[in-house]
Amino acid sequence: MSQPNIPQTFRAIDVIRKKRDGVELSRAEVEGLVNAYTKGEIPDYQVSAWLMAVVLKGMTRAETAALTDAMLHSGEVLDLSSLARKKVDKHSTGGVGDKTSLVLAPLAAAAGVAVPMISGRGLGHTGGTLDKLEAIPCFNVNLSVSEFRRVLGICGCAMIGQTAEIAPADRKLYALRDVTGTVESPYLICASIMSKKLAEGIDALVLDVKTGSGAFMKNEKDAAFLAELMVETGERMGKQVVALITDMDQPLGNMIGNALEVVEVVEVLRGGGPEDLRELCLELAGWMLHLGGVAKTVAEGKQQSAKLIASGAALERFRQMVELQGGDARVIDDAKRLPQARHTMQVASKKAGYLASMQCEQIGTACVILGGGRERKEDSVDPAVGIVLHKKVGDQVASGEAIATVYYNAEAQAVRARQLIEASCEITDAAPTTKRLLIHRMIGKSGEKN
Ligand code: URA
Repeated sequence: MSQPNIPQTFRAIDVIRKKRDGVELSRAEVEGLVNAYTKGEIPDYQVSAWLMAVVLKGMTRAETAALTDAMLHSGEVLDLSSLARKKVDKHSTGGVGDKTSLVLAPLAAAAGVAVPMISGRGLGHTGGTLDKLEAIPCFNVNLSVSEFRRVLGICGCAMIGQTAEIAPADRKLYALRDVTGTVESPYLICASIMSKKLAEGIDALVLDVKTGSGAFMKNEKDAAFLAELMVETGERMGKQVVALITDMDQPLGNMIGNALEVVEVVEVLRGGGPEDLRELCLELAGWMLHLGGVAKTVAEGKQQSAKLIASGAALERFRQMVELQGGDARVIDDAKRLPQARHTMQVASKKAGYLASMQCEQIGTACVILGGGRERKEDSVDPAVGIVLHKKVGDQVASGEAIATVYYNAEAQAVRARQLIEASCEITDAAPTTKRLLIHRMIGKSGEKN
């Protein structure tokens, strides 16, 4: 008996139920969902349900590829072949105090690599490059494609967000995942990151895959899985991709919060700043310069980067980018021009000993509670609030000594943030005997191994 001819119309509810029941979705179904959501034809609540089903049930390689491709082709894929320089970008899977992008884009540009960077906002407990850039008064992260090309052509780097033209599907899905507990899926993270990066018209990509209590991938095995998924996706599209697995078991640097992080970026670009942040910036820059063809080895790339910082060339490139994107570059020489919190509150240690560990995710959440991130899609962030750490893991601390200072504008939020920070710091009598490496390992077959 012949089958009745059932029309194949796309229904979001069917795709949600299939994923809920662990059935593999076809490419057409994944594309149907992404396209309909991007066009505003299906509501947030249905896509939230689907995202949660993906977090719980996972995705096959074929589904992940279909999702990445659909998100990539939801908008324009830039053709930057007219630019003579090699185009290289870097992207982090998300951390607390992770401000390396603001250092790396101008630094690599000063070395002769083009960096067409499309970034995101804060996600879950982690900070976002766009929110940090917008802490600089008038900085425009919403350039049109032609403005983006213009800035890139003049100064060698430009930093924008997903737009209605480039990676619009990620723009919508990202904002929804932020507030629906649906960030922590390697498949969704891979599709989100790689769709943006592949839309940029790059030749090569350096991925900073975070692991530890402040990362979305808490252990190294999960981080390596995500790294491999992204490297494989990039290579499938003909790009050179390396992933560094790096530590996020405590915040990177000392400052957390949008305007505060801009201050620390300027410190690093001036040749100072905290050691861990400087070291990671140089390592990632070394890889960017190496893949960008301006350094024969990663070590040479690191040396060149250190020189560009010492000479002030990287800082001047940052200044130029800020000006070209409409921002008030005077913040570079006068940090008081950045948004300032009205009050500060100390977080003091209750006993003497050593800071043995930090629940890094909780520190990020404390910053979100202060207003530095979003709890609902419509929320705006307060650029001025945040946390400055005075102690890092392994440091000795006296009873009553300040571990951190909270910068705040609302007292009740500051009290909650202080409690979270206190609870997340483990103070022990003896000094910790082991120290986690900042850079765990590299994944990818591009170029040299170190
Ligand atoms: N960064 C992104 O761009 N997307 C994610 O899902 C996580 C980190």
